[in-house]
Amino acid sequence: MDSGGHIQIAPSVLAADFARLGQQVKAATDAGADLIHVDIMDGQFVPNISFGEVVVDAVRRSTHLPLNIHLMIQEPDRLLPSFMKADSDQIIVHAEACTHLHRTVSYVKQEGKQIGVAINPGTPVSAVEEVLQFLDIVLVMAVNPGFGGQVFIPAVLGKMRRLRRIIDEHGYVAQIEVDGGIKADHTAQDAVRAGSTILVAGTAIFNGQEPVSRTMARMRASIQGLRAGG
Ligand code: DX5
Ligand code: ZN
Repeated sequence: MDSGGHIQIAPSVLAADFARLGQQVKAATDAGADLIHVDIMDGQFVPNISFGEVVVDAVRRSTHLPLNIHLMIQEPDRLLPSFMKADSDQIIVHAEACTHLHRTVSYVKQEGKQIGVAINPGTPVSAVEEVLQFLDIVLVMAVNPGFGGQVFIPAVLGKMRRLRRIIDEHGYVAQIEVDGGIKADHTAQDAVRAGSTILVAGTAIFNGQEPVSRTMARMRASIQGLRAGG
């Protein structure tokens, strides 16, 4: 683990007010976000369409933070070049969506970008195990992807613990990221204790009622003093 004990918070812009997207991304940046999580949905791999390249570019122009780009796209290879722009960006593909996962992972790495692989709640650790040594991030979905505001599925915690053990045993560098249903409560705490070092949060950060500075502070406070896997 290379996070030095720091747990990263990645607000998901899917829950932001798109009429004020730039402002919302800036607010999250000013409030101490570590990454900006960007959800790309193709209406095929997941039953919903979000947005594409032009919106990602707009997010990029609104922050200096790395973008944590979550591609919920069936066979993403064809579209990968349009999302691999800034050097600091992290590209996350789904294990279930890639027929040749090793090839896709190698391609993104070869282009000099950080690579992550996501697994759905029903997908076992074994789906990612053979490429784990090459990854910067393994993303454990804590909801079935497609929508924000769903309820955290506690059964995925065991999977995080198993991944943590494998990564630590082999000295791999992959960080564990959790996405879906994370709030400033036991969900964030349990995910960190199970070994996650990157927390994605959409509706918990952009709730349309409170300033992002307040929701970010609450999220940070909820995990204060916790160590990943501790
Ligand atoms: C769900 C997306 C998530 C979503 C999380 O398919 O991948 O990133 O934005 O939203 P919350 O935090 O509201 O569950
Ligand atoms: Zn996501």
